[in-house]
Order: sequence, then C-alpha cells, then structure tokens
Amino acid sequence: DKGTYPFYMLKEIDEQPNVMRRLAQVYLSETGEPVISDKLLNSMKQADRIYIVGAGTSYHAGLVGKRLFESLTQTPTEVHVSSEFAYEEPILSKKPFFIFLSQSGETADSREVLVNVNAGGYESLTITNVQNSTLSREATYTLLLHAGPEIAVASTKAYTAQIALEAILAKALGEADNQIVAQRFDVRHQLGLVATGIQALVDEKNKIEELAKASFLNTPNAFYIGRGVDQNVSLEAALKLKEISYVQAEGFASGELKHGTIALIEKGTPVIGIITQEKTAGLTRSNLQETMARGAHILTIVSESLAKPGDDIVLPDVDELMTPLLSVVPTQLIAYYTSLNKGLDVDKPRNLAKSVTVE
Ligand code: M6R
Repeated sequence: DKGTYPFYMLKEIDEQPNVMRRLAQVYLSETGEPVISDKLLNSMKQADRIYIVGAGTSYHAGLVGKRLFESLTQTPTEVHVSSEFAYEEPILSKKPFFIFLSQSGETADSREVLVNVNAGGYESLTITNVQNSTLSREATYTLLLHAGPEIAVASTKAYTAQIALEAILAKALGEADNQIVAQRFDVRHQLGLVATGIQALVDEKNKIEELAKASFLNTPNAFYIGRGVDQNVSLEAALKLKEISYVQAEGFASGELKHGTIALIEKGTPVIGIITQEKTAGLTRSNLQETMARGAHILTIVSESLAKPGDDIVLPDVDELMTPLLSVVPTQLIAYYTSLNKGLDVDKPRNLAKSVTVE
C-alpha cells in the first residue's frame, strides 16, 4: 500500500534510511561485527576471483561492489552484465566465486548464467530481495536484502540495499582474511552515517523538485559524469532518468567526454557532475568547465568536504567507499520529479516490466 504517496517510487526512495538501519540490525552484531555464516565466508575465502553478475540497476550495484570487494578483501573482482556473460563467458580463474545480484531473483538473463555456473560445479551466492525466488533456490547461498517489496518498476531501495550488503559482506570477508583495511572499516558507523545522510537528502526533496523542473523538463538529453565510483553512479543515474522520464541520458567517465561525446553538448544541455572522491574531484570539475565552455548547463552533486560555493547538491560526508549510497539519492529524486512533472506514470513506464523473465 502506498499510503499517502502518489507513487510507490517516492515511498521507496523515502524508505532507504530504514533499509540501511534494518540491514545493520540483521547483519551486524551489537558490537558492529558482521554476522555472516562461516560456511559462506569459507567458500568465498577460497576464491581467487569474484564474479558479480546482474542486469540493469543490479549490474550497477555490482560495479560499486567491485570497489568494495577489491578495497576490503584484495580479491580481484569482475562485474558482468548477465545477458552478455551467458553467451560470451569470460575466461574463468582457477577458483571463481559467483555473486548474483537480483532484486526480484527472477531475471531470466541472470538465471541463464546461474544454470551454467551450476553445471560447472561452482559455488554461488544470490543477493536478492525475494525469499525463495528462482535465483535464491538455485544458488548455493542466499543473502536477503530485507528492503520490503519494491513495486515501482524503477529500482531504488534495492540498489542501495545491495550496495550496503556488499559492504557488510566485503567487511566480513576482509576481516576473515585479516585485511587491515577491512578491520579499520567501521561498517556499522558508516551505515549509521548513511542512514542519517539519506534522510537529510530526502528531507530536501522540494529543492530537488525545483531543480528538476528548471533543468530537465524540456531537455531532450542529459549527461551524468564522474570518475571511479562516481562514474558507476552516473550510469545508474542516467538509467533512472531514461526509464521513467524518457530523457535520453548517458552516464559517462568524465575523462572520456572529450574523446568524442562532447560534440553532443549544445546550449543548455544539462551535464551533472558527481564528485565524491578527493583524488579526482578537481579533474571532474575541469571536465565540467569544458562542457560549460560549450554551452552546457552544469549541475553538481558533491560531498560536503569537497564542496565549493555554488555547488547545487551537497552530500553529508561518509567514507569514500560508501558515497554511492548518498550520491544516487538526488539522482533518483531528479528522475522521479522529472517524470512526475511531465505527467507520466512514474511507477509504470512504457515498454517495461518489473521483472524481466525473458532472455
Ligand atoms: O530484479 P533484478 O534486480 O534482477 O532486475 C534487474 C533489472 O531488470 C532492473 O534493475 C531494471 O534495470 C530496473 N527497471 C531499473 O530501474
């Protein structure tokens, strides 16, 4: 039931602080230590490489997972689009471990990969929101997202739940392997900061609605740019805008724009920079300037510690590994309000189904 909300999507965006808190309750002890079964951790410990598989938004959550697993566990991690992996299987390492990300647990493209993985005799984990779903039943292990039903076709709370759970799992695996970075990573504290941070952002939704109305209602196209995990989030931000507001949007590595795509920038084209990583903040800012010199209408989503006067949306500070959990929220709201103010059916965009059960 969507209660007083006009659409499920907004309700689901608003639920994200609670989803973060619930994951901490379910998967962390009172002292903040991950509670993950030894069996699963032992299987993962033996792996020399992690393969994350997903589609759409779940694939995008996997991209952020790569950063988490590699930083906290030092295990090389590859992320694959399931429809590609199924028929163009990469060369596998000696001891692969597979993680399937799927909100519904029913995505046919991902299931096709899991069938192959099982035929090869490999172990796997499905991270899903739906208990007893196909991908959950057929994988060796399951971790549930506990995000509550996600009804809107555009996935929001499943994305942040997947990333938060990947962070908990990476912390657990890194600690089981005595990795100092993992020992120092206080995932409970971080999830607390994230929950309060998301709350602060959703409390500012009126401001984001004004921004969406001013910049996205009449544009045929838009660009999100960033580097590293900010680039990962830019892909998710663009997908959200495309699927519910029908604005042609691209997410881009900010350094790549000047290698061709900058030719598309015209007077007024919105270019949104996501800036949460200290090492590359200056670079993305100069890439934004380059587009501005060609007439782009630039907007910024920036972590507080990196913010400058004139930035549009400022995100409360969290560990640089966790910033996607915050930076994605304004982009969800931008997509929502653009769709809403265009008078579209936010929850049921054209041509799309909530779970895609055909290949
Ligand atoms: O249920 P899944 O997570 O496996 O679904 C994967 C994609 O179909 C899904 O994320 C889709 O891209 C959403 N509509 C994005 O908002």
